[in-house]
Amino acid sequence: MNIIVTENYETLSEEAAKRIAEVIKNKPNAVLGLATGSTPVGMYKKLVEYNRENQIDFSQVTTFNLDEYIGIPSEHSQSYRYFMDHHLFNHINIDYKRTHVPNGMAKDIKVECEAYDERIRSHGGIDIQVLGIGNNGHIGFNEPDSSLIVGTHVTELTEDTIQANSRFFNTISEVPTKAITMGIGDIMKAKEVILLASGNSKADIISKLLEDKIDTHIPASLLQAHPNVTIIVDQQAGKHL
Ligand code: GLP
Repeated sequence: MNIIVTENYETLSEEAAKRIAEVIKNKPNAVLGLATGSTPVGMYKKLVEYNRENQIDFSQVTTFNLDEYIGIPSEHSQSYRYFMDHHLFNHINIDYKRTHVPNGMAKDIKVECEAYDERIRSHGGIDIQVLGIGNNGHIGFNEPDSSLIVGTHVTELTEDTIQANSRFFNTISEVPTKAITMGIGDIMKAKEVILLASGNSKADIISKLLEDKIDTHIPASLLQAHPNVTIIVDQQAGKHL
């Protein structure tokens, strides 16, 4: 794994955005795997800037998001579809039809999950997957467990995750308890992965994920088996490295 420790959040965001820009420059119809959460917000801001300055052309790019809550509609301000539109898609020259976020309101969620994996496959797989990391080591919504699931599936959010994500809702009871997430196999199949972490609260989990073992109770540790991963952390998240 490559590890990049940047001076601060701003330079972390720049580093990540530059890598995405490079991928698109080399392959204008690249397939991006995208993440939500506070960490990639700065990277999306940079990508919007680069697009405005004509440094990146998104017109042929396709995107697949990692996850979506079950039970809140896409117009809800906390849905991941809303997040992506608001932080990225509404501000760049992407063909909106090429942006994919799992549908957490689908009538048949199982069919939705299978169709999502099929769509990723039919686009030739993901060229670069962006990840954040939960304080408990989750990636996407692949929560710590004794076994992990390969493909897109429904997951029950852990208490830790519900607690962490309640900061975006009025009350904790409004936080959905289930989500659709791409599976560990989907993430491992991406040709390249960049995982971003910022701030003191991520320092412990970042050092744990780099310990010399793979532990399904720290889902991000599986990335050690991936041939092309870059962990980009700011000094605070990287303070134990
Ligand atoms: C959420 C998302 C993850 C994200 C994580 C960390 O639960 N499903 O994809 O990586 O939270 O979020 P943050 O970047 O806000 O710390």
